[in-house]
Amino acid sequence: MVNIAVAGGTGGIGKAIVEELARQKKHNVVILSRKVSRIADLGIDVLATDYSDTFNMTELLKKHNIEIVISALGLFSPESSQAQLNLINAAIASGTVKKFIPSEYGIKYTKEMLSFHPAAQWWLDASDALQKSHLQFTRIILGWTLDHYGIPGVPSNMKPFSYAIDFNKRRAAIPGDGTAPVAFLHSRDLAKYIAAMLEQDNWSIFSPFAGDRMSWGELLSLAEEVTGTKWEVTYDSVEKLESGEGTVLEQPEGAMQLPAEALRHLWSEFGVMAVRELMDVTKEGLRNDEFPDITPMTVREVVEAAWGNDRRA
Ligand SMILES: NC(=O)c1ccc[n+]([C@@H]2O[C@H](COP(=O)([O-])OP(=O)(O)OC[C@H]3O[C@@H](n4cnc5c(N)ncnc54)[C@H](OP(=O)(O)O)[C@@H]3O)[C@@H](O)[C@H]2O)c1
Repeated sequence: MVNIAVAGGTGGIGKAIVEELARQKKHNVVILSRKVSRIADLGIDVLATDYSDTFNMTELLKKHNIEIVISALGLFSPESSQAQLNLINAAIASGTVKKFIPSEYGIKYTKEMLSFHPAAQWWLDASDALQKSHLQFTRIILGWTLDHYGIPGVPSNMKPFSYAIDFNKRRAAIPGDGTAPVAFLHSRDLAKYIAAMLEQDNWSIFSPFAGDRMSWGELLSLAEEVTGTKWEVTYDSVEKLESGEGTVLEQPEGAMQLPAEALRHLWSEFGVMAVRELMDVTKEGLRNDEFPDITPMTVREVVEAAWGNDRRA
């Protein structure tokens, strides 16, 4: 039994990880959060954490004899990136922590991407700090979270948002001609892979996992087939995406709040990633086969389960 802390375990991906670890009951799990509480139904303690205070975080990790930190902080701002860097430094200083999973769960961020996606620096900084430390770490990459095409029919703790395909409005804004492949993984399957990796002695620096691979154009065809309707579709050219003018679909209630201009820029950056085939992490050599007992959900399974009953005659 190992003592594990999940930072950001109250959030979308973090809560999926905590739920899976609680279900398996193999390890002692606590959540690090900016607010103290207890997730009573899971029987998990939530430890109040001040991410600006590295010394106190170090003491907290020591006090609870934490051996593995899984970060699922929402890295959506310079502040949250700094919070994670402070957590990494606390883990290094603790003397108890041996392994660290930084919050990534996206594509393989590289410095070549900084020219069009400056936020990639947050993930690179975390990776650099871990690389220089004695901690074992692995950068988990999955492409695009599948949850967004199943909410609310397929349970997920993630906030809803509409990118490329909007099942509610039957609208699509496809990057490029829609043929570039994309890898997808549901957060519940990600959580299963993370739980399984905890049993491994040695981790590789990158851990790519995927549940499925298809292009945005193929997902659109599937969406039209499953809902039985023809959708309104916009195709954004590469030039439009590269100039930050990508089409933003209307965001559902409960989506991440961002000013319209910031959303347009971010969505355009996602579009550039898509057309450059950076969302296809399957080419990085998937680690799925190391865990044959896990059968991740496919895109069709999620879409059918969530929207199949809406099919129009
Ligand atoms: N590939 C994809 O399609 C995809 C999609 C979504 C997310 N992701 C990635 O997955 C990771 C987790 O995302 P998520 O959507 O699950 O995150 P989230 O739910 O927005 O946030 C997770 C938790 O982070 C903590 N947090 C937020 N801002 C913070 C700050 N400034 N300082 C310290 N803690 C903060 C909060 O916990 P407390 O309030 O309890 O402290 C929150 O519950 C991110 O790295 C993100 O980039 C990937």
